[in-house]
Amino acid sequence: MHDFKGKMAFITGGASGIGLGQAQVFSQVGAKVVLADIRPDRIELALAWFHDRGLPAHGIHLDVTDRAAFERAADEAERVFGAIDLLFNTAGVAAFGPLHKASYADYDWIMGVNFGGVVNGIQTFVPRMIARGCGGHVVNTASVAAFYGSDVAGIYCASKFAVRGLSEALHQSLAKYGIGVSILCPANVNTRIPESGTTRPAHLRGGYEMDETLLVSLRKLHKRGMDPEVLAKHVKTAIERGDLYVIPFPEEREPLSRSFARILECIPPESSDPAGIAARRAAAAEFARERQAQRPAR
Ligand SMILES: NC(=O)c1ccc[n+]([C@@H]2O[C@H](COP(=O)([O-])OP(=O)(O)OC[C@H]3O[C@@H](n4cnc5c(N)ncnc54)[C@H](O)[C@@H]3O)[C@@H](O)[C@H]2O)c1
Repeated sequence: MHDFKGKMAFITGGASGIGLGQAQVFSQVGAKVVLADIRPDRIELALAWFHDRGLPAHGIHLDVTDRAAFERAADEAERVFGAIDLLFNTAGVAAFGPLHKASYADYDWIMGVNFGGVVNGIQTFVPRMIARGCGGHVVNTASVAAFYGSDVAGIYCASKFAVRGLSEALHQSLAKYGIGVSILCPANVNTRIPESGTTRPAHLRGGYEMDETLLVSLRKLHKRGMDPEVLAKHVKTAIERGDLYVIPFPEEREPLSRSFARILECIPPESSDPAGIAARRAAAAEFARERQAQRPAR
């Protein structure tokens, strides 16, 4: 997709940080943006920026973990701006601590928003995009944490690994419908992510304690992160080029190379088992041929 004029963009987490940056960048190139967020106060503040500039923007109060509300939000967005062209599954939360101190509530909240929210976005909008037959693009926000585990961010990493795996599969499934998929993997971005705890629902309280010292350090860290609008411009380029991954952080090249190298070191060379390899490759090829023959037309 190269022309964003008149396109409808639905952005979860659109009232702050990376989602707001996406809304600002895409509205400035002609898109009509819907900011869907759990924080109505932040939606109001964010909308002022668009209205001051005469740019079309609409706010919807949405908890991405609420599937029925997601469906209603999609109906509302379509009533206001027409059918969706661009889906940004950006909403996310973070809470940190070692896994042996995690509660089930920590798992339910972090996985529910970061992974469940993306699932719900896909389930709600992708069938609508396919039925309309006009293509489009889905951008799912993961993180560089989708590539390596961290002892203090186990649940967060798991949620982002899941987003990445799902998005790679979605990329393959949607290509034939002209719908692109990109996986945004930010490193440090200047956002309000340290304040995530303010949106944690009462029934999922208890577990990781983000004490003030940790919050102060996190705020200091993120203040020096990439500007969300700069990041969103990279996302725009990725959509234009049809890139699967968006990782505009050169400092991640080295740790990622090391991580992939560590994995490759665990795989023996092909010369160690030529007969076994040939048998497994033949089996996989036969399976693929059978699946192709059984596949119904679209
Ligand atoms: N900031 C970073 O350094 C960084 C790095 C890697 C990945 N990310 C990812 O970027 C995404 C955006 O985060 P951000 O950094 O812009 O943080 P942010 O807190 O500024 O923005 C996140 C937005 O999501 C909203 N949100 C939270 N829970 C929600 C829910 N249940 N339903 C709907 N909206 C909800 C919040 O109200 C907020 O407006 C997240 O998925 C995060 O994991 C951020």
